[in-house]
Amino acid sequence: MFHRKYYERMINCVPIVDKDGLKYGSHHVMYWKEKPLMDLHAKRLCADKSDYDVLDIGFGLGVFFRSVIAYAPRSYTAIEANKGVVKYALKIFRDYHWTKTNMHIKEGLWQNIIDNRSKYDVIMSDTCSPKDNREEEFQCLVNQVCDYNLKENGKFSFFQNGELPDSRYYLLEKRFKHVFIETIQIDNLPIEWKKKRLFTVATSEL
Ligand SMILES: C[S@@+](CC[C@H](N)C(=O)[O-])C[C@H]1O[C@@H](n2cnc3c(N)ncnc32)[C@H](O)[C@@H]1O
Repeated sequence: MFHRKYYERMINCVPIVDKDGLKYGSHHVMYWKEKPLMDLHAKRLCADKSDYDVLDIGFGLGVFFRSVIAYAPRSYTAIEANKGVVKYALKIFRDYHWTKTNMHIKEGLWQNIIDNRSKYDVIMSDTCSPKDNREEEFQCLVNQVCDYNLKENGKFSFFQNGELPDSRYYLLEKRFKHVFIETIQIDNLPIEWKKKRLFTVATSEL
């Protein structure tokens, strides 16, 4: 696989969960304050029905997990590359033992472990690709993962910092029947994320 070193570092680094969020090394990759954003993704994806099978690519802090579990989906499956985060996720799952949702986690890079037999009603993606490979990976998610793993009328959403670039918009428009776009502002994000106050929620429906 390309970018082997980048991914090896990501897989093996020891994650730290602190009062602000999830840290890899010295910087945060996810903040608790992103909850309103993850709430909106979950609402767009799951508010209309409760027997959904959900795939969450990149468990992270489990903020999206907590948002989506409120809609009581039939199943929730996370794909997570970082070993420490997988352990953290299993701990969080234990706190939700009362839910009827079947919860699973698959350890590994989605690029390596996604199979084309599992089908989901909903796919959420929030990962961190190397900068020079970001768009290629996004295309692969939209064209291949959504092709093989989304059920008919399935929905797809992803983390988007700032406005949706035209290239992504055209890709989604070509691939999906409907694309719903909404921008959300999150204030009081920690200083290093000051310039990233606006986020787009682009939920697409097959
Ligand atoms: C920004 S965090 C996700 C935050 C999550 N949406 C939440 O609500 O807390 C990104 C996560 O994706 C994982 N990740 C990054 N690239 C990945 C890949 N290619 N396959 C699987 N997991 C990946 C990282 O280890 C990290 O835990």
